[in-house]
Amino acid sequence: MTNNTRHSLTDTLWKIYRRPNPPLPWAKGSDLFWNDPAFSERILREHLDDTHGAASRETTERAAQIEWLWSKLAMQPEIHLFDITCGPGLYAVEFAHRGCTVTGIDFNPTSIAYAKDLVLIEQVTAKCTFIEQDIRHMNYRGSNFNAAILLYGQLAVFPRAQAQALLTNISQSLKPGGRLCLELLNQAQVDKEDSSWWFTDNAGLWGDGPFLHLGERFWDPDEQVSVERYHIVHLETGQLTQMQMTDQTYATETIIGMLKQAGFSAVTVYPAWGGLPLADAEEWVAYVACK
Ligand SMILES: C[S@@+](CC[C@H](N)C(=O)[O-])C[C@H]1O[C@@H](n2cnc3c(N)ncnc32)[C@H](O)[C@@H]1O
Repeated sequence: MTNNTRHSLTDTLWKIYRRPNPPLPWAKGSDLFWNDPAFSERILREHLDDTHGAASRETTERAAQIEWLWSKLAMQPEIHLFDITCGPGLYAVEFAHRGCTVTGIDFNPTSIAYAKDLVLIEQVTAKCTFIEQDIRHMNYRGSNFNAAILLYGQLAVFPRAQAQALLTNISQSLKPGGRLCLELLNQAQVDKEDSSWWFTDNAGLWGDGPFLHLGERFWDPDEQVSVERYHIVHLETGQLTQMQMTDQTYATETIIGMLKQAGFSAVTVYPAWGGLPLADAEEWVAYVACK
């Protein structure tokens, strides 16, 4: 190890030591680096790893969700589905096989490139369009989608005002009678204890070489927000990567109110996905909103 590296490690440890405590929710970098090129390559590997459901649910769970969505969103062949934060297109391609037209949007360039390749391989290219864009900047007013999905809690990484604007935007993209399935964490089930952890690995989501991962979790009872902060020390260089993820939790009544304010007329609430066999179902609530 050179002096430079030792200095770098010292700097790295001081940066961790001097971190703001407690962290500010929604501080700069308040979500994972989904659209950073290197991170986005690594996260794609996690989406496609069918041994866990951390990025995308496993194939069997996805199949159960797709069957459920088909019925709850009153889907039929030929309808137009809007898949918001579509990732690598694993849901989109299945709905396309059922005859739907699908527009998927996500800002991870690697996932969008994968989705475009996948539909070629699966021979459903004509049915699918993928757009690489930040969903906070989309405007699909008047698109006349029949149905939309926004899964795996992604609305919660935005502050409330942005989340409300997004729901309004989604509502305006749907036909009258169109339906949205929104999946959010069950506020009652969210871990409200502060905690910390660490682990090392040779390579993985957090780095392409050996790294030390130091994690912290904070609960803000006033804002009902959880903040996770990750400090990654890359052992070969001594460099530090810091990421923070803020999750707004919502009471069911609050989300119903936000959906109505967005222009939906009726909302049905399915705690734990109404009993779907998902390993983590208890942690989630699926909302089906009808315009
Ligand atoms: C947990 S993954 C779920 C992906 C997909 N729905 C699935 O279940 O396979 C969350 C996705 O949200 C996308 N995402 C996060 N923030 C976004 C934003 N502001 N605009 C567009 N996509 C975003 C990420 O790139 C990632 O693909």
